[in-house]
Amino acid sequence: MSHKILEGKKGIIFGALDDQSIAWKTAESVADAGGQFVLTNAPVALRMGTINALAEKTGAKVIAADATNVEDLNQLIDQSQEILGGKFDFILHSIGMSVNVRKGKHYTDLNHDWMAKGWDVSAVSFHKLMQSLYKKDAMNEWGSIVALSYIAAQRTFPNYNDMADNKAYLESIARSFGYFFGKDKKVRVNTISQSPTLTTAGKGVSGLDGFLNYAEKMSPLGNATAKECADYTVSLFSDYTRKVTLQNLYHDGGFSHVGVSQEVIDAITPKS
Ligand SMILES: NC(=O)c1ccc[n+]([C@@H]2O[C@H](COP(=O)([O-])OP(=O)(O)OC[C@H]3O[C@@H](n4cnc5c(N)ncnc54)[C@H](O)[C@@H]3O)[C@@H](O)[C@H]2O)c1
Repeated sequence: MSHKILEGKKGIIFGALDDQSIAWKTAESVADAGGQFVLTNAPVALRMGTINALAEKTGAKVIAADATNVEDLNQLIDQSQEILGGKFDFILHSIGMSVNVRKGKHYTDLNHDWMAKGWDVSAVSFHKLMQSLYKKDAMNEWGSIVALSYIAAQRTFPNYNDMADNKAYLESIARSFGYFFGKDKKVRVNTISQSPTLTTAGKGVSGLDGFLNYAEKMSPLGNATAKECADYTVSLFSDYTRKVTLQNLYHDGGFSHVGVSQEVIDAITPKS
């Protein structure tokens, strides 16, 4: 699938930690489609991760930025414009973290300082990023901004913990900022609600295997992989989706619209 539909387009990709990351696969797919970009992640993630291998493979430069720090974001935007030689056509926000999930805190016993930290990283960082881009007028007309979400924003998944609330907030920011970015700059803003996926962030959710199997059985097309998510994102960065904005787009093999599947009925029906 290597049509050069992003030829001449430039952007920033947040969140490639290792080769399982959705952002890593997206960087590969965007490069295959002819796009050029800067890779960024939090300083601590750059030390832990293997992002330089991805940078080499895709011809990208790497710039450290904590997405909760507006000064970091402003520097990242300025330096990336210098490197890429102008404004951006696409931005991927592929960032999520809950301290409560990491530390195994139950939703009925949350540490609210940790809750605020996770909210800042997973949701408010999207507002901070878009506000910096908007104020610097750093996006080209008909540019595209995408963030990654999960259906726990709409429906209860007990193990998803406070990340569910963060995703609901993230999706709301996409709509609210997307209005102004659309009106004032002709830039579109969407979230992709992706299937559960085996990544570092995904593995943090307890019972992920059961989760994945359940979603696989419920989805007529099966779970969407990180690579499939990457290819979908390429379409949203391309000129073929110019009038798609303010949407939360399910990329989940149909999971979100199935009440129950025959496989799940069979699995829970008592054997007589
Ligand atoms: N894996 C899943 O099941 C799944 C499903 C739906 C949506 N998502 C979402 O996809 C996105 C990417 O997650 P992933 O599954 O690829 O996992 P991942 O762990 O590979 O990516 C999460 C990224 O967030 C980065 N990050 C954390 N704090 C940061 C900060 N302060 N500044 C900058 N970056 C920071 C991490 O370094 C990491 O690169 C997240 O928004 C996640 O919630 C994941």
